[in-house]
Amino acid sequence: MTQSYRFPPGFHWGAATSAYQIEGSPLADGAGPSIWERFAHTPGMMANGDTGDIACDHYHRYKDDVQLMRALGLQGYRFSIAWSRVLPEGAGRINQKGVDFYSRLVDELLENGIEPNATLFHWDLPAALDDRGGWLNRDIAHWFAEYANVMYKALDGRVKRWSTLNEPWVVTDGGYLHGALAPGHRSKYEAPIAAHNLMRASGAGIQAYRAVGKHEIGVVFNIEPKYPASNSQEDIAATRRAHAYMNEQFADPALLGSYPPELKEIFGPAWPDFPEDDFKLTQQKVDFVGLNYYTRAVVKHDPNAYPLKAVPVKQPNTTYTETGWEVYEQGFTDMFTWFKQRYGDIPLYVTENGSAFYDAPVAEGDVVQDPLRTSYLRKHLKAMHHAIEQGVNLKGYYAWSLMDNLEWSLGFAKRFGLYHVDFATQKRTPKATAKFYAQVIETNGAVLDD
Ligand code: BGC
Repeated sequence: MTQSYRFPPGFHWGAATSAYQIEGSPLADGAGPSIWERFAHTPGMMANGDTGDIACDHYHRYKDDVQLMRALGLQGYRFSIAWSRVLPEGAGRINQKGVDFYSRLVDELLENGIEPNATLFHWDLPAALDDRGGWLNRDIAHWFAEYANVMYKALDGRVKRWSTLNEPWVVTDGGYLHGALAPGHRSKYEAPIAAHNLMRASGAGIQAYRAVGKHEIGVVFNIEPKYPASNSQEDIAATRRAHAYMNEQFADPALLGSYPPELKEIFGPAWPDFPEDDFKLTQQKVDFVGLNYYTRAVVKHDPNAYPLKAVPVKQPNTTYTETGWEVYEQGFTDMFTWFKQRYGDIPLYVTENGSAFYDAPVAEGDVVQDPLRTSYLRKHLKAMHHAIEQGVNLKGYYAWSLMDNLEWSLGFAKRFGLYHVDFATQKRTPKATAKFYAQVIETNGAVLDD
C-alpha cells in the first residue's frame, strides 16, 4: 500500500549544531575559557586527544557554512551561543566582540532567507562560573538570566526562536553523576542539585525573556523512551525509574512544577528536599518545547547498577549506530504521544535527530555514500509523520547535524553530519543524506512515499 507523506503546510525544516562542537577558536577575540576548553585539555578525557580548538573552524567559515545550509534549502538553523564569548567571566563584563560574532552570523542567515534559532546553553559553561560552583551554586539562575538578557537585547527581533538549555539531562548525568563529560564530577549527591539548578536557571531565563523579548522561547530536552525487558514487576519498576530519571526529572519541574516520586527512591539520602518556592521559578510558560530524539532503551532490573538499579539490554536483529544506539523509529512516535499525554498540547519542535555511521572515504568532487544514515532519516521522518497524523502539535524538525563535528568526549570519529568534514583540510562534502534531505524539504516530505 502506498502512503503519502506530505507534512502540514508551513512545516519548518532545519538543521542544528552547537558552539563548542563546530566553532573552533574558543579563546579568540577576548573570549573566556569554558569548562569544555578545560576538560578537552585535560589528558585522558577526550578520545584521540581531540579538542574544540579548531573543530569545523566555523568561527571563520560561517559565511561558507551558511551557503551549505542554503544549498540544502534549510528554512531554519539552530545554533548555540558560547556564554564565555559574551561574558568571559560568566557574569559582569561584556565582551562586545563575542556578541558581534553571533550578530554577524544572524545577519548572514537572514540575508540568505534562513531563520535563526538560538540556544543559550549547550553545555559550555564559562570556567569562571565553574570556579564559583557552577551548576551547584544556586546563584547560577541569576547569572544565566543576566547572560540571557544580554543576548535578548542584542538579537531579539532578528532571532525569533530561543531556547534556554539544551539537554539538561546530559549535563547532569555526564557532568555530575558519571563524569564522562565536563566538568567531570562523579557524585550522586551533586547530580540532583545540578539538575535542579539547571531547571531554575531555565525558568529564570524564560522570566527574563518575558520582560524584554517579543517572540518565542522554550527549552530543549532529550527524551529516550524506556520499555521493560519483560513483564516482571522488577523490570517494570526499573523502567519507571529509568524514565523518571532521564525524562521526567527535567520536563516535570519545567512543565508540572514537581518531581516524580521515583527520584527519591533512586537517590535515597542524596536526594535534597528542595524549597517548594523553587517550582514557581522552574515552571514558566513556554511557547514551545524542543525534543531531541536518537534512540530508546529496553530496561531490566539489576541490583548492582549504580544508582538506578536498572540497565539497558541490547536487542537482537536490529541496527545499532556507531554511538551504540539502537535504530528504533517507533520510539520517536511514542515519545510524542507520551509527551502530549503527560504535559498537554504544547507546540513541539524536533530540535535534534540523527545518527553516527562510518563514512567511507570519497574521491574529490564526489558525494559521500551513507545509506545507513539516509535510512535512519527516512524511517524517523515517517515515524514523525505518524505522530502528526495522531494529532501531535509538531511544528518543525532540525536534523542533527549540519556537518560532522566534535562529538564531545568521543572526538571527531563519530560523524553525524549531513556534510562530511575533512578535519585536516576543512573541506565539506555533501553526503547522499544531504541530497535526500534537500528533496524532503523541497517537496515537504513527498519523497518519503512508499
Ligand atoms: C547533543 C549533541 C550531540 C548529539 C549526538 C545530543 O545529545 O545535543 O550535542 O552531538 O546529541 O550525541
